[in-house]
Amino acid sequence: MKKNLAALTVLLMIATPMVAQASPESDLKEFRSHFTNMFPEVPVDDFINGVYSVDEASRAQWEDFEEFPPYEIYISKGEDLFNKKFANGKSFAHCFPDYRQGVRQNYPKFDTASGEVVTLEGDINKCLTDNGEKPYGWKKGKIAYVGAYLAYMSRGNKLDVNIPDDEAAMAAYNRGKKHFYAKRGQLNISCADCHYNNAGNRIRADILSPALGHPTGFPV
Ligand code: HEC
Repeated sequence: MKKNLAALTVLLMIATPMVAQASPESDLKEFRSHFTNMFPEVPVDDFINGVYSVDEASRAQWEDFEEFPPYEIYISKGEDLFNKKFANGKSFAHCFPDYRQGVRQNYPKFDTASGEVVTLEGDINKCLTDNGEKPYGWKKGKIAYVGAYLAYMSRGNKLDVNIPDDEAAMAAYNRGKKHFYAKRGQLNISCADCHYNNAGNRIRADILSPALGHPTGFPV
């Protein structure tokens, strides 16, 4: 019995060293090829469309409602807020000078000075507080409208997440990676169980979207 346990330990040691060696670049390569092998008929650039990239009926519905997009009203609310002057006479454009060319594609990013991951929403609120304004609440309402406007202005740009060669940045990356693959909850499942291993399969009435391209469509 003891012998078997030792053999098992050796086996586990042989089976796991891949994890330590992985770099963001090799992770990306592996992640992409997992999905391009799973869905050889889907062009790699189309995964940004989430579940619509892998299910024709859902895609047809989406293309239909894009004719009269129900979200446009929120984008114009975001535009109004974006252009509204702060009490000090400045506006969001002072914090996001490149907003016309799009800024959403650069988030999330790592700020080496503070050692923190910075999100677009975090920078929206930082702009407010830096200018003596009250920050918005998180998740919905004004912050989502301004985020939607900035994301809309960034349509067509390629998401470009930079991970600086920095210990704290790599640690943040690895925490995110662990979060994605870690099993949790009463059902003991991970994000990856649904959006990596079972992409394209049904879970009751829902079709599980492939995780490749997931971050491009936000806010929703
Ligand atoms: C039990 C299966 C399951 C698990 C586990 C799960 N999801 Fe989902 N998720 C779904 C379903 C179903 C939807 C709605 C259909 C779709 O777009 O995939 C969804 C939607 C999403 C979307 C929106 C996709 C889009 O294009 O709008 C994202 C992003 C997402 N999940 C990320 C995650 C992350 C990150 C985790 C882990 C923290 C996770 N999911 C865990 C089932 C799951």
